[in-house]
Amino acid sequence: MEYSDKVMEHFMNPRNMGSIENASGVGEVGNAKCGDIMKIYLDIEDDIIKDVKFKTFGCGSAIASSSMATEMIKGKSIHEALQLTNKAVAEALDGLPPVKMHCSVLAEQAVKAALIDYAEKHNIHIPELDGYE
Ligand code: FES
Ligand code: FES
Repeated sequence: MEYSDKVMEHFMNPRNMGSIENASGVGEVGNAKCGDIMKIYLDIEDDIIKDVKFKTFGCGSAIASSSMATEMIKGKSIHEALQLTNKAVAEALDGLPPVKMHCSVLAEQAVKAALIDYAEKHNIHIPELDGYE
């Protein structure tokens, strides 16, 4: 299997690994295909993602995807973070092998799950998340 240098680099040296105490929102998702788990913690202030951390129990592609996804949403608005797709994460990593694309789906889902948690905890309605589960 061929991994891009970027995937290897983010796997060997992941950004934003860890957790946030009293996070504004936490999202945890699991990948039914492989049983891997990803958790994203958000610190949100005035609609801006001030900080983001992740914990991933999973494969190298999942770790690289988490690392890249956290970099892509850090400092962004909620609205911008909602635009993050697994495809964008994979592209930013210079691609993932086809059988590993589902690993990047975890990153998109975990970010959305954390934003749903944030919205629920703070009684905020985020229209983009309507119907998302
Ligand atoms: Fe085991 Fe992904 S299938 S780590
Ligand atoms: Fe499970 Fe990558 S193989 S997330």
